Amino acid sequence: MIRILMVCLGNICRSPLAHGILASKLDADYFEVDSAGTSNYHIGNLPDQRSIAVARKNGLDISNQTGRQFIVNDFETYDYIYVMDNSNFKNVVKMARNAADITKVKLILNESNPDKDLEVPDPYYGGRSGFDDVYKMLDESCSVITEKLSKS
Ligand code: 4NP
Repeated sequence: MIRILMVCLGNICRSPLAHGILASKLDADYFEVDSAGTSNYHIGNLPDQRSIAVARKNGLDISNQTGRQFIVNDFETYDYIYVMDNSNFKNVVKMARNAADITKVKLILNESNPDKDLEVPDPYYGGRSGFDDVYKMLDESCSVITEKLSKS
């Protein structure tokens, strides 16, 4: 089993979408996908209604997800840890125990835009169109991740 974790700040807007999108592209017999937030703001909460809506518009149901906080043991459990922005990167790397942990952590948009260090903007305080943009970016990166993992 190959395990992939998607991480953002709240685990209600961006990482639940990344989680749902990637899981929909991979064979669940071989790949496990989850998501977490670096903060404790939304533990146990459903994804934001706007994330649920944009997922549904694209044929995905993410309404069964619940928010949880990133824990040190996630470095043990997961093979790949994708973060949405530089702040997430800093917060996750701060918890790393060794160099091997750090190598697992990657900015997700570097999959679709190699070496550009682009960030998935936090859509929480914006309007609905922000969620459409985020969906599109994540879908592109998740397609690249799927191609790579399918070859591995
Ligand atoms: P997310 O968005 O990190 O994509 O889940 C946010 C959700 C909630 C908050 C910040 C970002 N918040 O401050 O509550």
